[in-house]
Amino acid sequence: MTEAEFSGAMRVLAGLLEARTGQQLAANRMWRIETAMKPLLRAQNIANLEDLVSRLLSGDERHLLDAAVDAMLNNESSFFRDLSTFGMIERELLPHLAASGKQTVRIWCAGCSTGQEALSIAMLIRKYPEHWSGCRVQILATDISSSVIARARSGLYSQMEVQRGLGINDLLRWFEPAGDDWQASRDLLDLIDYRVDNLLEPLVPPFHYDLILCRNVLLYFSVELRRKVFDNLVSLAAADGHLILGAGETVMGQTDDFVASRDFRGSYERRIIHPAQMRTGSAGGLR
Ligand SMILES: C[S@@+](CC[C@H](N)C(=O)[O-])C[C@H]1O[C@@H](n2cnc3c(N)ncnc32)[C@H](O)[C@@H]1O
Repeated sequence: MTEAEFSGAMRVLAGLLEARTGQQLAANRMWRIETAMKPLLRAQNIANLEDLVSRLLSGDERHLLDAAVDAMLNNESSFFRDLSTFGMIERELLPHLAASGKQTVRIWCAGCSTGQEALSIAMLIRKYPEHWSGCRVQILATDISSSVIARARSGLYSQMEVQRGLGINDLLRWFEPAGDDWQASRDLLDLIDYRVDNLLEPLVPPFHYDLILCRNVLLYFSVELRRKVFDNLVSLAAADGHLILGAGETVMGQTDDFVASRDFRGSYERRIIHPAQMRTGSAGGLR
């Protein structure tokens, strides 16, 4: 399908996706709309994309709109996605946070999809109970899609999903067979608070998070909306907080509020504003 062949209905749907979530569908992903919508059209007995769009534009079918937007989101995820990043988190960043002297360490997985990322962090915490004595850990995991949050809360993963990134030892230690699927242990799930939330207008508890993972989410945002999300993230990050993006993502050219960490490779830290900069205003504003 060429760009000229995308139907008006496809363009309207892509527009709804962007308006609701910030996600832009590049021309080479527009062709997916038709396939992505097939289950919804079938379930709702709707003949084609044009009929779907006219029902959506009639404006009073909130559930249908949510389901259509949900169907277009890319929810790709896996356990310990990017081994080098999770190796650094395990060996360096989590021990550093555990030794920080804070009573509660707060971690936020923003755009968590079906929960593999939050569970990967939870496994790395539960693996070293000796690091965390005297320190509470809370993992908040949010996503704009209510269907992925429902799946994440269930803690159920297919054989195919657990094969992606989970070693056999971790599988047997933290999951139990449940029919054809695998059930994550209560011990892991109890660490995680899953919530539906939009990164463009976050309503998450206004704590200062010590570690924020926002991975493979901002890739398809426009430059303006990406900046808006970075503003939201920095306002919710602890002064000594860390940010980790996906392997192909960077803050460079997007925000001045985070800088590459010298100590924790692959992570970003909040930029420290020196008092002299505050006086001259050269830091570009205070937070
Ligand atoms: C490709 S998945 C990445 C999942 C996980 N972070 C990882 O790297 O494996 C991107 C997730 O971001 C979510 N998302 C997209 N736009 C969002 C928004 N505006 N607010 C919150 N979540 C959003 C999608 O629903 C999807 O589940």
